[in-house]
Amino acid sequence: MPGARLVVLPAALLLLLVALACWGPWRRRGPEAPPGLRRDLERRRRDLSRLAAAIQARVSPPAAAGRAIGCADLDGATGLSLVGCGITKVVLRAVLPPPGGREVALKSVHGSGRDVTGCVRRYGHPGGCRRLAAYKLLKEMTLLQSLEHPGIVKLYGQCHDSSANPAAKITTILELGRPLEMIELLQTPWEKRFKICLDLVELLYYLANSPLGSITLLDFQPRQFVMVNGVLKVTDLDDVSTEELSCQTDKDCLLEFPTKTFSLKCMHGKCEGINEQRNLFNAYRYFFTYLLPHTAPITLQPILKDILNATGDLRYGANETLRAFQKVLHLYKSGLYLQKKPSHLKEYIALRGFHSGTAEDYKCWPSYSHTGCMLSVHNAEEAADVCSSHPQCQRFIITPQKTWTAQIPTQTKFTNAL
Ligand SMILES: Nc1ncnc2c1ncn2[C@@H]1O[C@H](COP(=O)(O)OP(=O)(O)OP(=O)(O)O)[C@@H](O)[C@H]1O
Ligand SMILES: *[C@@H]1O[C@H](CO)[C@@H](O)[C@H](O)[C@H]1NC(C)=O
Ligand SMILES: *[C@@H]1O[C@H](CO)[C@@H](O)[C@H](O)[C@H]1NC(C)=O
Repeated sequence: MPGARLVVLPAALLLLLVALACWGPWRRRGPEAPPGLRRDLERRRRDLSRLAAAIQARVSPPAAAGRAIGCADLDGATGLSLVGCGITKVVLRAVLPPPGGREVALKSVHGSGRDVTGCVRRYGHPGGCRRLAAYKLLKEMTLLQSLEHPGIVKLYGQCHDSSANPAAKITTILELGRPLEMIELLQTPWEKRFKICLDLVELLYYLANSPLGSITLLDFQPRQFVMVNGVLKVTDLDDVSTEELSCQTDKDCLLEFPTKTFSLKCMHGKCEGINEQRNLFNAYRYFFTYLLPHTAPITLQPILKDILNATGDLRYGANETLRAFQKVLHLYKSGLYLQKKPSHLKEYIALRGFHSGTAEDYKCWPSYSHTGCMLSVHNAEEAADVCSSHPQCQRFIITPQKTWTAQIPTQTKFTNAL
């Protein structure tokens, strides 16, 4: 129904246009911004209009998913607390009033952040500097409105308080997550770490093939991601590019990292695949090298090593990387990763409905539980095998708890009680 589409899309962009009109450098409040700042503002405004135009041309509007949350909902919000701040933005947690009542993240410009304070030092114009920073938030909101993927934090709504002076104050209302704790992750079982890498690869596959073209995260670091119900999601989308670098020769297509430089091909005036490749190498250097290899099942290690090698040398695109991860997932879920060796199971007697005490647990690493040894196994055979390999282990209890791979792996408790 093309008619309906025409109605919905301008509505989604209306806010943006209003914002552009209100914040354009021609609309002055107070002393005029100095020329340098006016140029910066104008550049951001053009960047945002280009993005809005690209979206209008290429993205069909998302199906209306209930009522959007707005300023009225924020008035009654309770339980405000700070969850994070970066150079540009500050994020608060809040609980919306009933009947919604859900926990959300509220993102707004960080007035005392490095971005705004640096600008004020340079230009001496707080109002203009806040507007400059607000463009980043608007860009992020515009992207969140048109992208949809489990690996991208959900935008519930926004509040645009245009009465606020000197700069219009904008707040985006997002799905609440938990900042990624790399140190903590290094100590979690392999299966969980693998899941985070797989989530990331699925996101990179989506970004490489997105409705807006291939999207690259220019500032790709663990702190741009949060966990929501065990799923990795990107939350910082202000510094992304939806356009591949323009070029005349291959020499223009250098992809540089502190440790390595790649030269890509210049095809039809664009550096072919540069956006996708930048994302992949960043995923390799910030995530895969830390999370993927250690304590992986022995039989999966060669495949994981291949993945690391291929992404570290940019031999794989997003498609091949996703395929390689799916293969590992399949081997893992189906138990094909188990080594064929003599079974230890006959050394154990099965007791049903037995109650597990906690007093005599021993600890192992990396365990699902801090107080004992809780591991994920594919079946009783594997559990017997693990128990026989731990000198303290006398018995094991197969619990009904499933891990995220859901099918067969269960969490199994190993104890030294007889
Ligand atoms: N939806 C969310 N739920 C929970 N915490 C979040 C959420 N979004 C962001 N955060 C936290 O707030 C911090 C700042 O957010 P964001 O990264 O968007 O701001 P920024 O100023 O662009 O940051 P940076 O300086 O890293 O570019 C993040 O590092 C993260 O820890
Ligand atoms: C990949 O393997 C090749 C051959 O063994 C090696 O020369 C190269 O350094 C490896 N690359 C990475 C990123 O590990
Ligand atoms: C990756 O897969 C998608 C979806 O199947 C396809 O449209 C795209 O062309 C593929 N990309 C490459 C580089 O092969």
